[in-house]
Amino acid sequence: MCGIIGYAGFRDAAQVLMQGLLLLEYRGYDSFGIAIDTVTDLTIMKRVGRISDVKQSIICGAEDAENRGTVGIGHTRWATHGPPSDINAHPHSDCTKTIAIVHNGIIENYHTLKEKLISDGHVFSSETDSEVIAHLIEDVMYPKQNQGRKTLVEAVEIVTDMIIGSYAILALAQGTNEIVAVRCKSPLVLGLGDGEFLFASDMLPIIEYTDQVIYPDDGDIIHINQTGYYVHKRGGNKTGVPYNITTLTLSPQQVKKGGYPHYMLKEIYEEPEALYRSIRSITPDTLPKSLKDTQCITVVACGTSYHAGMIFSYMLEEATSKLVRLEIGSEFKYATSPVHGLLLAISQSGETADTVAAVKRGRCFNAESVAITNVLGSSITREADHTLLMHAGPEISVAATKSFIAQLGVLLQIVNCLHNEDFNNELTRVHQAIVPVLSLSFDTAVDLCMDAEHMFYVGRGVFYPIVMEGALKLKEISYIHAEAYAAGELKHGPFALLSSKTPVVAVCLPGSTYAVMIGNLKEMKARGTPLIVLGDPRSPELIELADHIIPIKPEGTMIDIFTTSVALQLLAYHIAAKLERDIDKPRNLAKSVTVE
Ligand code: AGP
Repeated sequence: MCGIIGYAGFRDAAQVLMQGLLLLEYRGYDSFGIAIDTVTDLTIMKRVGRISDVKQSIICGAEDAENRGTVGIGHTRWATHGPPSDINAHPHSDCTKTIAIVHNGIIENYHTLKEKLISDGHVFSSETDSEVIAHLIEDVMYPKQNQGRKTLVEAVEIVTDMIIGSYAILALAQGTNEIVAVRCKSPLVLGLGDGEFLFASDMLPIIEYTDQVIYPDDGDIIHINQTGYYVHKRGGNKTGVPYNITTLTLSPQQVKKGGYPHYMLKEIYEEPEALYRSIRSITPDTLPKSLKDTQCITVVACGTSYHAGMIFSYMLEEATSKLVRLEIGSEFKYATSPVHGLLLAISQSGETADTVAAVKRGRCFNAESVAITNVLGSSITREADHTLLMHAGPEISVAATKSFIAQLGVLLQIVNCLHNEDFNNELTRVHQAIVPVLSLSFDTAVDLCMDAEHMFYVGRGVFYPIVMEGALKLKEISYIHAEAYAAGELKHGPFALLSSKTPVVAVCLPGSTYAVMIGNLKEMKARGTPLIVLGDPRSPELIELADHIIPIKPEGTMIDIFTTSVALQLLAYHIAAKLERDIDKPRNLAKSVTVE
């Protein structure tokens, strides 16, 4: 979690950093801060809360000309070690207050390092693991005997040999006018502008200044100043390493809200295009041979991506003779059975620690891996043998919506390509089929949920993972407790909780599960629950049973998967909007979970 940014150029660094941090806030928003090298001083400004809640002039010390500089680093935090507070906010500095660092990741051996530093006389200000980095750099740059002083670049390199964990670190030392960076298992992008250079956790803050970027490798030591960038391998010679420069195709416009009240709504409205792109990107020719040949696929993912994987497993096993084993990223390390065949990892961000670790673990079993991700150059693309991009476009809202739809586009098109027989390809028109869902009214359904503290979501077959995703969306953005069940499971316990205060959201479309779903809905209705059903508004049974029908035109499973998913996203959105929740940045969450 956490977002980091660094700038060295000719602009007012405070402004660049603050604007960049706003774009990185989705990575964490407990607290934030910046450090500027003003040459005569190192100015650190940091505080608890969100950047968007604070007047920028106060934070940047805009009235204070002494605090201006053109080189600086910034951080937006998702707390791991130590609660959100002014003190625990980054940047952290050393005892001399001339070194500042920002860090994304976890320093696993910080406790031992901290004890040693304290016994050597260092005074710590925060409860974070990150602060040790600043004091370690201080020890190397300014040794006690004043002998063997090192430069900031040398110090960062030495310190990376002492720390264990995952990190992307930016370090600044007063008067050097440079930023030194190193990464290990945490994301970092370097932007190459004209007379200006930027580091950031992702490309979003960079595209305002340049479309030329480099994705540094783990262990690279990179430093930038106003005149250039320099990269060398940790422990290697300092002559530099050649790097592939990537030209980004993203425009700054694409990461703006564009008149929508929330990024989430904008991203839902972008789904038809995202879906079109994702489906088109997969053809039998673009599929890795191993994916076509294998008989067994182990799918590993977290959260929403896991739900996409679950839908894939239902559909692939129905359409082909392949077997799918499905694993939650964070549990995969405890699974003792070997990985047979291929490992398929799904991750919007490409940075989810557990999913990336799963790819590495797959290698221990000699399993070839395919990653499905939205982010070119992300950690998972470096670990996996093959990458399939989902082409959703940037997703800013913490709640995954268009990336889920694009994941399904890629995954179901894979099913389509692997299908043995002639397939009537409904996927060619599914992007059009979801358009009418965008203009459905959710007012009545929202009213039925307004006073609920608990809700249930039910479905059968492939609609079970779809309601799991619907319930996840509702809880993360509305804070209403929502549980998803396979509809037949409710009577095995949860029925005890049903009452007129627990609305049930059900997916009930014509098909093999319809009759038994109707039976289940009748049982729930008998317990007095308000029923909101996504179904055919012409179904006589639903007209009789449902308190409200969200009308979904039945068009066959391949299309129904998408239309119901979009409707459930919108239902969650409208409930959260009416409750005036912080939809794009729900409490306690961050978009990429880069810690275990
Ligand atoms: C869902 O809205 C969340 N954003 C979350 O469950 C997410 O899907 C999960 O953290 C996995 O992220 P990834 O796809 O980037 O790996």
